[in-house]
Amino acid sequence: MCGIVGYAGPREATPILMEGLSRLEYRGYDSAGLAVHDGADIRILRSPGKLARLAGLLEGRQLPGTLGIGHTRWATHGPPSEQNAHPHASGDVVLVHNGILENHAELRRALEKKGRRFTSQTDTEVFAHLIDEELGRRPLEQAVARALARVRGTYALAVLSRREPDRIVVARSSSPLVLGLGRGENLVASDIPALLGHTRDFVFLEDGDLAVLTAARVEIRTLAGEPVARPTRRIDWSPLMAEKGGHKHFMHKEIHEQPRALADTLTGRILHGRADVRLDDLRFEAAELKALGRVVIAACGTSYHAGLVAKFLIEWFARLPVEVDLASEFRYRRPVVGKGDLLVAISQSGETADTLAALREAKRLGARTLAVCNAVDASIPRAADGVLYTHAGPEIGVASTKAFVTQIGALFLLAVRLGRARRKLSPEEAGRQLEALAGAPELLEAVLRDEARIEAVARAYAQTRDFLYIARGANYPIALEGALKLKEISYIHAEGYPAGEMKHGPIALIDEHVAVVAVACQGESYEKMLSNLAEVRAREGQVIAIGQAGDEQLGALAQHQIHVPRALPSVAPMVNVLPMQLLAYHIADFHGTDVDQPRNLAKSVTVE
Ligand code: M6R
Repeated sequence: MCGIVGYAGPREATPILMEGLSRLEYRGYDSAGLAVHDGADIRILRSPGKLARLAGLLEGRQLPGTLGIGHTRWATHGPPSEQNAHPHASGDVVLVHNGILENHAELRRALEKKGRRFTSQTDTEVFAHLIDEELGRRPLEQAVARALARVRGTYALAVLSRREPDRIVVARSSSPLVLGLGRGENLVASDIPALLGHTRDFVFLEDGDLAVLTAARVEIRTLAGEPVARPTRRIDWSPLMAEKGGHKHFMHKEIHEQPRALADTLTGRILHGRADVRLDDLRFEAAELKALGRVVIAACGTSYHAGLVAKFLIEWFARLPVEVDLASEFRYRRPVVGKGDLLVAISQSGETADTLAALREAKRLGARTLAVCNAVDASIPRAADGVLYTHAGPEIGVASTKAFVTQIGALFLLAVRLGRARRKLSPEEAGRQLEALAGAPELLEAVLRDEARIEAVARAYAQTRDFLYIARGANYPIALEGALKLKEISYIHAEGYPAGEMKHGPIALIDEHVAVVAVACQGESYEKMLSNLAEVRAREGQVIAIGQAGDEQLGALAQHQIHVPRALPSVAPMVNVLPMQLLAYHIADFHGTDVDQPRNLAKSVTVE
């Protein structure tokens, strides 16, 4: 998500921090800032927008000093602005943060009651106040450890204190942080590329580590103060490889980021004890949710497929009728939408012209509107009455992957909220569903561990020119998404169909040259899927089946099987899409296409 760089050494910190931040620019960000200690005081400079704007501000100003921290922010709490840009300060403490603080709202309330004044809308500023509160006469390192004992959430932190001009205290929990070891200088960053110009020797911090960096040394301890040893690794990646975290393409990196991204979507939102969810920006009272007569979803491409999955979830949990529209069709079909309807606009970028127009049209007709979006403060969330951010982090590959899984995660939370508000979902069932959702990131990990098998299937079918993707129920949108992924990045013809429709047309296509990718997990409609696959085999079609390991019936019908773990029907679509993404990715990679920037496509479609 956001980027962190820190420097302690004999050289001027500002140019090193700016260079490091510029090497993280590819990840996307919306504001940037620096803090540099000159031995007596810490000066802070922040700016919304790109680094060039910060560099412009630096031209007229001095930020001297050999100890400093820098940050590029990708907004999560509060829109991009100077006030919300990092570093944040309180008293003698100045810091930068990546991650999401779960209990920030309650901590903020408690701190405000004690008279502390906040100047931003960020969760990060809570850290600054907490550490300042703990600082008293303590060393910075201890104050950070004590403050961290009071927070829940994910963080990579780099902290300065006016009183200790020789050190940066850093800590991590779930957000990456790496130390770069130099000669007579030490550095820290959220990602390796930021530091490759200065060192090749890296120490990767682990969750629960707290480290103190000075020019001369780094010391790593647990939050309890116990020293820990972490190995030094030599990294010989090229700068381009480093940007992609060692992955060949951003798309591959983003596929692998999905367990983490989904966990970020859920962070702080599941109220386990109350079998409900907390959605801070939703801005609709329970009474209003209860009074809704219908949900209408409008979106494009992959986001539309997430909407199709949401239809199942909302109808299951909230017993509320849901219509899903392609946003490009919605506004031209004189839609019957108005009071009593909730229009949900789903968009990764928040800038898709058709989706924005659909939302505005629904609003004009009197519907309430909700944006499910990844990019904070983009046009779509700004135009909506309420917002549900997905917190997937920047997605660079044109083919959407982690945005999709996190959209479904966010929509799952919405469905539970609707179900609870409308009293259609019992506390027991809500608890069961939320427990399953909280466990979903682990299921995604399990699929990723089986990538070699999927790559082998991709190799076997790399020359196939026609693919049919079939599934039933909530997995049908996953078939559509699998086909879209393959078309987009490999330029191979692929179509998604509900398996029950096979006999009504597409079966005419089947022969030995056609590959049929089928989701056939055990559970509802499993037997029907087996029958569909038998029909494909009878016509010599090639079957690639996604199902459970050890399923012999399925094995007998499929040329190739890809295994996915068992999951509740509500969670299965999130899990089952991963093999589809990996299959498309590896087929495209065998063809050597430009996976991250496929021909004719743009990441954000801001024109009709
Ligand atoms: O930013 P959005 O989610 O509104 O974008 C919608 C589509 O343009 C997008 O999902 C597109 O289909 C992707 N290339 C799919 O991988």
